[in-house]
Amino acid sequence: MSHFEFKCTKCFKSHKADPQTLKCGTCSGTLSVKYDDSKRPVAIMVGGGTLEMPIPLSSLSEYLSLGEGSTPVVSMPNISAMLETAIYAKLEFMNPTGSFKDRGTAMMISALKSKNVSEIVEDSSGNAGASVSAYATRAGMKAHIFAPLSAPQTKLNQIKIYGSVLHAIDGSRDETTEAAEKFVENKSLVYASHNLSPFFVEGTKTFGYEIFNDFDREIPENIVVPVGNGSLYLGIWKALEELKEKRLIKTLPKMHCIQAENVNPIASNKAWSKSEIKPTVAGGIAVGSPPRKSEVQSVLRQSGGTAYSVTEASIVKWQIKLAKHEGLFCEPTSAAAFAGLENLIHKNQINKNERVLIPITGSGLKDVFPE
Ligand SMILES: Cc1ncc(COP(=O)(O)O)c(C=O)c1O
Ligand SMILES: [Zn+2]
Repeated sequence: MSHFEFKCTKCFKSHKADPQTLKCGTCSGTLSVKYDDSKRPVAIMVGGGTLEMPIPLSSLSEYLSLGEGSTPVVSMPNISAMLETAIYAKLEFMNPTGSFKDRGTAMMISALKSKNVSEIVEDSSGNAGASVSAYATRAGMKAHIFAPLSAPQTKLNQIKIYGSVLHAIDGSRDETTEAAEKFVENKSLVYASHNLSPFFVEGTKTFGYEIFNDFDREIPENIVVPVGNGSLYLGIWKALEELKEKRLIKTLPKMHCIQAENVNPIASNKAWSKSEIKPTVAGGIAVGSPPRKSEVQSVLRQSGGTAYSVTEASIVKWQIKLAKHEGLFCEPTSAAAFAGLENLIHKNQINKNERVLIPITGSGLKDVFPE
């Protein structure tokens, strides 16, 4: 018997952890990995080798790594002074393919490989596609990556260089998902969707474990995350809940969720039709119908975080500010979190005597340069 299964996030029904099972057969809810408390789980050491994190693999030898995780945390003296708040950044662009996605991908590809999957389909705004392309190659799998034709050329080139088949779709991010889903159905392939696969969030959890060590057990009171589908946002929360369950931390941070005004189904709490989606420079969070929306909203409620959406001009302004004042060149999607932070501080949603942690989710080198 396995030490884990899938559990529906809506009706809590259990499901066998099968690579083809991405939604609950009873209520269509999204799924997450549930470990069997009566069994000793397989675990990796995270946070400088100090913490055991359960993983959905039957042995450690199944874990395929390209060296993801263990990213540095840096203080931001100039921006902290500007906003009169102690702000820290965790440099997720230092992951092997230049974004945080590698944390989730490493776990998802390892789990699929362990179940003898040899050909997969993925859809992405670019970063997850590049990440899946790299790790699929490492695992000896064939990957079909769907991405919008409008994605930055660097990301499309990156998807191709690792050897996957790129399907560039002339449509929105949501239409790219639809095209991938159709392809999966027609070819009977495994849909390795980083948005739906419960394995992906098990990988992004490493971020949450690492910050326990990065901050010497004193996790900042606020974490501000750019959210499209919420894979990093939900992974951090799941990790911190596991640490709380183990009584390693007493309190949980406020988890703030930042979106672009042009596509903000979570911040606005409404469904976005295709015609309402306006273009945004923050391509990584341009998701009109995130399947895990209610999970993100539940974390917002539980943690006391705020969902906030930001203008295009403020995203570009912060992308330039981070480069010019802190020497950190991130992509616009990552800069959106800082645009959100400025507003949350001004609106007193974040107190100036509290610390703030922001993941710099992707490298500026992967996107178009601001003018
Ligand atoms: C750089 C960057 N930041 C943040 C996100 C948002 O991640 P998620 O959709 O898992 O919320 C993405 C997603 O593509 C991204 O590429
Ligand atoms: Zn269900």
